[in-house]
Amino acid sequence: MQINFVDLNKQYNRIKTEIDDAIQRVIKNSSFIGGEEVRSFEEEFAYYCDARYCAGVNSGTDALKFICMALDIKEGDEVILPVNTFIATALGVSSMGAIPVFVDCEDGTYNIDTEKIEEKITSRTKAIIAVHLYGQPAEMNSILSIAQRHKLYVIEDACQAHGAYYKNRRVGTFGIASAFSFYPGKNLGAYGDGGAVITNDAGIAEKIKKLREYGQEEKYVHTEMGTNSRLDGLQAAILRVKLKYLDEWNDKRKNVASCYHESLEDLQIKLPETKADRNHVFHLLVIETDNRDELLQFLKQKEIYCGIHYPVPLHFQGVYRELGYKAGDFPVSERLASRIMSLPIYPEMEKEEVNYITNAFNEFVSTSTNPSLVSIQ
Ligand SMILES: Cc1ncc(COP(=O)(O)O)c(C=O)c1O
Repeated sequence: MQINFVDLNKQYNRIKTEIDDAIQRVIKNSSFIGGEEVRSFEEEFAYYCDARYCAGVNSGTDALKFICMALDIKEGDEVILPVNTFIATALGVSSMGAIPVFVDCEDGTYNIDTEKIEEKITSRTKAIIAVHLYGQPAEMNSILSIAQRHKLYVIEDACQAHGAYYKNRRVGTFGIASAFSFYPGKNLGAYGDGGAVITNDAGIAEKIKKLREYGQEEKYVHTEMGTNSRLDGLQAAILRVKLKYLDEWNDKRKNVASCYHESLEDLQIKLPETKADRNHVFHLLVIETDNRDELLQFLKQKEIYCGIHYPVPLHFQGVYRELGYKAGDFPVSERLASRIMSLPIYPEMEKEEVNYITNAFNEFVSTSTNPSLVSIQ
C-alpha cells in the first residue's frame, strides 16, 4: 500500500460530475475573471463564516498583505504573531515595512502562547495575528482581551482552519479581518492558488476589493496603489461545489483523527491536544516523538509519506536573521522543530489506511534496538 500525505484525486473522483459541470459553466460563459461565480462564492463563503463580507483574492499570502494595507500597518509598526507558523503569516507584515514580533507557542496545542504576548507589546505595536494553527482555533478570548486593553487590532490567519469553531462560533469574525487560503491541499482547496478576506467591516472589504484589482474605483479610475490579485472564475466555481461538502469533510477528518488516537494512544507518542471549547478541523495531524527523523525514514520505506510543519521556526529563517533573535529565545518552538511530524490525513482516508500506518508504528517500536525510541521527553 502507498499512502500519500494528501490524496486530492480521491476527492475529485467523488465529486467529479459536479466539478466538471462547474468548469464547463465557466468556460461556456467565458467568466474567467470576476463575474457571477466569484460574486456567488464570496456571498456563500461570507454566509458560511457568518460574516458580512468576503473578498476573494489570489492567495492567503495576499489576503494577509491586503489586511495589513487596509489597516494602514506601515514602516516602523510592530505586529505580534506566533513564531511557530508558516512564513506567510509574517510576510504580509514585512511587505509593509513593518516588523513581525515573534511569540513562542504553547506546549499542548502549539498555538500562540497567550501568556507571552503582553511582554512583547510596545508603543509601536499595531496588531496581533492569531493563527489557528493545524486547524485548531487559537485562544481567542485571551487574545481579544489583551488587544482590547492595549487598543490593538486582531487579525486572524485562518488559512488552515476553514469551518473550525471557537466556543460555538466559526473562526473568521473574531478579529477585524481574517485571511483564508484555498491552496489545493487545504480543507477547502481550489485547483490552483486562491484566498479570501472575511470581515464585518465594510470599509476594509471595499478597500481590499480595490487593492486586488489595480487599486481601481471603477474602470480606469485608480485611487489606491493596488495590484492584480483576484480569485478567478474557475477557482470560484470549483470552491462553490466544494464548500457544500466542507462540514462533512471536516467531520471525516475528525473521525480519521479519532482512529489514529485510538490506535496510537498506547504508544508513548504525544498526540494532538484538542481544547474542549473548540473544534479542531485537523488540516494537519501533528504528533511529537523523540526520534522523528528515524521514524519518518522508516515510514517512507513503507511508502507512507508524512510532513513536518514546521522544521524551522521563523526566527531561524535567513530572511528574518536581521531581527536579531537567537537560539533559546523560543524554547518550545525550537524543541518542536526537531520532534514534530504530520501524519497523512484527508477526509477520504479509509480505516485500513490508518491501520496500515499505525501497524507500521508498532513495527517500528518492536523492531527498534532502542526500546524508548518512540517516547516523549
Ligand atoms: C498559516 C498559513 N498562513 C498563510 C498561508 C498562505 O496561504 P497561500 O499559500 O494561499 O498564500 C498558509 C498556506 O500555506 C498557511 O498555512
